[in-house]
Amino acid sequence: MDHWLLITGISQLLTLRGSTARRGASLSKLGIVKDGAVLVRNGRIAAAGTRREVEASSESRNAEKLDVAGRVVLPGFVDSHTHLIHAASRAEEYELKIQGVSYEEIAQKGGGILNSVKKLRAATKDALKHRARAALEAFVSHGTTTVEAKSGYGLDTASELRILTLQKELREGQPLDIVSTFLGAHVVPEEFRRKADGAERYTTMVIEKMLPEVAGQNLAEFCDVFCDRGAFTRLEAKRILVEGKRHGLVPRLHAEQLSRKRAAQLGVELGAASCDHLEQINSSDISALAGSRTAATLLPGCDFHLGWRNYAPARKLIDAGAIVALATDYNPGTSPTVSMPMILSLACTQLRMTPAEAIAAATINGAYALRREKIVGSIETGKQADLAVFEVEDYREIPYYFGEHRCWMTLKRGEIIYMQD
Ligand code: NIG
Ligand code: FE
Repeated sequence: MDHWLLITGISQLLTLRGSTARRGASLSKLGIVKDGAVLVRNGRIAAAGTRREVEASSESRNAEKLDVAGRVVLPGFVDSHTHLIHAASRAEEYELKIQGVSYEEIAQKGGGILNSVKKLRAATKDALKHRARAALEAFVSHGTTTVEAKSGYGLDTASELRILTLQKELREGQPLDIVSTFLGAHVVPEEFRRKADGAERYTTMVIEKMLPEVAGQNLAEFCDVFCDRGAFTRLEAKRILVEGKRHGLVPRLHAEQLSRKRAAQLGVELGAASCDHLEQINSSDISALAGSRTAATLLPGCDFHLGWRNYAPARKLIDAGAIVALATDYNPGTSPTVSMPMILSLACTQLRMTPAEAIAAATINGAYALRREKIVGSIETGKQADLAVFEVEDYREIPYYFGEHRCWMTLKRGEIIYMQD
């Protein structure tokens, strides 16, 4: 028997209709319907429009009813960049950073990513699972319905496979879609740093040992590399991503966060799904991204958390026509937040994106960055009924009220998966 659900009482329904990536002026077109309604059949959207249009169908009359009493409904957020699985916070480093020790100094002394690697290798599977589950619940409570998740705190074959296997297991027993990315090339692990040609040897191990296992066991869709000072060179990144592609993994990159390595242009050349961070890009990188199909994913939580004032040039990217997406970069070192609404607030005040641009970047463009823009990221017939309901009357209030919890309800495939008490 079909299950029908009719959602009404929507003061503003942000449809984001179109199912294609948004560039330039189209980034601010939210496809708003006032006094909207959504009809859901077996977890998929059967109709979305004005209440009068949607209620007219016979299916609507017999459907289960949900009245959201004048709230705003938008597509669930698609968070296209997270480091979901890690063992613990790095609050001790946070304090040092505030006292003036830099992120890179901490990393050079064996802290930073290597600190999280030590903690992860020592953690039990249950502890990792427990922490990740709690984070997933928190994502949901902020209106997120799809997350990407990267490995990268294991950095040996067994530990990287352990993380990706855990991500696969986490798909069961909780409602979010988890999209896996292999980030074996996050940094060179401690045991290789002591060897001559350590980076070279580790890169070879990623290529010859890890990639065939990850692809063979079908554990990831994407392959990422942190191409930056203190991490991997452009050449090493290229070797890994080209080999990843040969195994069917779509490339994406941590590009131009700390220094400019022309990683974004490498991403464009390789047809990467996205290049993320981009704080250090110049005008030629902006042109390359704007002329490409690679999403430019901005992560303003990092600069905010690190206390930097070096935000990516979002306005220039948008005005040049790049496909700008927003994500949390949820991780223990640079952006320990699961909150897309907070990212929207930062995008508005720090990146100078309008509330409408920020919402499109966090929904349909996030979906595009994960190659899922035909399935999620907008509210239109045929798509998954992944919805966030906010306790506001006007969508601009979502970023406007910062640091406050305004997500009232989250639905995944038409099921209520979160409701505020
Ligand atoms: O996206 N830049 C590299 N990776 C993460 C940081 C990871 C960490 O510090 O643990 C990022 O910012
Ligand atoms: Fe990251």
